[in-house]
Amino acid sequence: MTKRFPPINPKLPHFMHGGDYNPEQWMRTPEIWDEDMRLMQLAHCNVMTVGVFSWVSLEPEEGRFDFSWLDTIMDKLAENGMYAVLATPSGARPAWMSQKYPEVLRVNADGRRNLHGGRHNHCFTSPVYREKTHIINEALAKRYKDHPALLVWHVSNEYSGECHCDYCQEAFRTWLKQKYNHSLDELNEAWWTGFWSHTYTDWSQIESPRPRGETSVHGLNLDWKRFVTDQTIDFMEHEMVPLREHTPHVPITTNLMGTFPGLNYQKLARHIDVVSWDSYPWWHSSKDEWKLAASVAFTHDAMRSLKSGQPFMLMESTPSVTNWQAVSKLKRPLMHLLSSVQAVAHGADTVQYFQWRKSRGSMEKFHGAVVDHAGHENTRVFRDVTSVGELLEKLDSVVGTTVPAETAIIFDWENRWVIEDAAGPRQKGRDYVPTCESHYSSFWLRGIPVDVVSMDADLSKYKLVIAPMLHMIREGVAERIEQFVANGGTFVTTYWSGIVNDTDLCFLGGFPGPLREVTGVWSEEMDALYDGDTNRLCMVENNSLGLRGEYEIHTFADQIHAQTAQVLATYGDDFYAGQPALTVNQWGKGRAYYIAARTSDAFLFDFYGQVIKDLSIGRALDCDLPIGVSAAKRVDSTTNTVFVMNFTSATQTVQLPDGHVFRDLVTGMDQRATLSLSPYGVAILQTAASLRP
Ligand code: GLA
Ligand code: ZN
Repeated sequence: MTKRFPPINPKLPHFMHGGDYNPEQWMRTPEIWDEDMRLMQLAHCNVMTVGVFSWVSLEPEEGRFDFSWLDTIMDKLAENGMYAVLATPSGARPAWMSQKYPEVLRVNADGRRNLHGGRHNHCFTSPVYREKTHIINEALAKRYKDHPALLVWHVSNEYSGECHCDYCQEAFRTWLKQKYNHSLDELNEAWWTGFWSHTYTDWSQIESPRPRGETSVHGLNLDWKRFVTDQTIDFMEHEMVPLREHTPHVPITTNLMGTFPGLNYQKLARHIDVVSWDSYPWWHSSKDEWKLAASVAFTHDAMRSLKSGQPFMLMESTPSVTNWQAVSKLKRPLMHLLSSVQAVAHGADTVQYFQWRKSRGSMEKFHGAVVDHAGHENTRVFRDVTSVGELLEKLDSVVGTTVPAETAIIFDWENRWVIEDAAGPRQKGRDYVPTCESHYSSFWLRGIPVDVVSMDADLSKYKLVIAPMLHMIREGVAERIEQFVANGGTFVTTYWSGIVNDTDLCFLGGFPGPLREVTGVWSEEMDALYDGDTNRLCMVENNSLGLRGEYEIHTFADQIHAQTAQVLATYGDDFYAGQPALTVNQWGKGRAYYIAARTSDAFLFDFYGQVIKDLSIGRALDCDLPIGVSAAKRVDSTTNTVFVMNFTSATQTVQLPDGHVFRDLVTGMDQRATLSLSPYGVAILQTAASLRP
């Protein structure tokens, strides 16, 4: 039985729809605020994110606060039946603060302190910055704790970046001392510092990795990235203290950036109540639009999986264009609805935008907004947004439902760091993220729900666990994978797995290290192919998968010995022709596949097709889908909602499963047999049993 999650805040048991709202930019023309309220109602919006970069408007001089404008806005929202996602302002500082306390500014990797400007430019260790943040956050919490409009806290904005100031260096050393039990010996061993005479003989010699200094000690690089995440979390926790104290019932989030590499979101997410993220795909940038759509779906799934299926917030998306992509191409008709529905289909309980009203000046004046410089509602974008709002109002039955995945792909932030930092076996094309996405696409194309999880996830609930390039294996992980397979699970891993431990030291005794037994293979060497070089993966006759023929191999070709594993395919060319390229190992009640080479997507599609069939993994919609159309579903114990989405610019038809009658929540009509989807069209189908009065 799949349980339904409670609404993000029970005060609003509906989808949230709205955007980043910056009324402080229009302080001189407050009549615009009233016009905003009218337009918000018209666009079927019910939440606005306020205060994100408002520090100087809230505290124009040190210690002198002015909440009058925010009081007015909060009151107006409440009077109009709307809510506020209220931000803390630490994403950008007032000039008076940088001027008086330069320590709040970040020190770059080149060792120089930044000047005042921009945003996201603070030191997360500076005691002054922490003190000032605490004061303003506490003032906000105390002032609005009982305000009817307060719905969700949005701490800061897109935390990112690192600081190399003396405070941060000292905090890093303290962090290391804790991690290595105050033993430099332990640290030197873990980082393999005997190499190039890098042994540290005093803690004070350790510095953050920087281009003009140390970059070749990979254990140091990895620990620094971990420290940056921990220090960001520490700063965020510090921000949350007064919020938790004064508003214990108001959920807290911070807006993430999808697969952003700088912070380990799988760790950070444990510290917030609800995940939210900012999604800005480069729509219409390539002919194979569905590949981008699959990659966006992968990211939505990764964001949902940060909190084990709990619905997330689509905190930002653009209603039309961004101003920072290489080309600001307009969303084609229906794309706005489609991309918004895609987020919902993969687990979002909100659709929110950057930004409500276009600013008149400065850097984001050309960024898409619900309200354009024309200032009225008679625009294509405004109508697009309105249609999303109208649709969301029909989806109350979806709020709190989740995505029932029987398959998990392990996509692990720390593993990514290690893969990207490695030197060799190719300096380019290691491509961890795209590789995970290609495995994922075989499921997306079939409309099969997938969770995207870290290597620490509970695997027991899945039938199939896929770990592309599980290069680093933290302690205990291999044992849990063995357990999963022993209990009947199917595990798939690939070349370049089981290579290093959690301080980036290679496993001794043969690769894939701790996965040797469960996979039943020994990888002796790995060949890297030049761009354009290929090999062939040739299926062995009568293999247990029932696959035939051959597939292209490129980039990586692992030289494995099948020890207890059975060979399903071999290499076609080169000095290793005839050696195993794909194996399966029976282990307990389950089995483990090892894909030794990087293959064409066609292989992955066919391979997973067989695995899916063997394991009877369910599809969102029990029928075949044309290329570029995907289906996703959200369920609880009684409701089953299927989203069918056409990411092509052509009309597509889907033959719905025989004998089923669905209600399409988009059109309000019954739907059976042949479903026709217009270019970028969507259908949201519920079976009669799921329909709520
Ligand atoms: C980010 C920020 C927003 C805005 C948008 C523009 O996501 O959080 O403040 O700058 O980018 O796309
Ligand atoms: Zn610092």
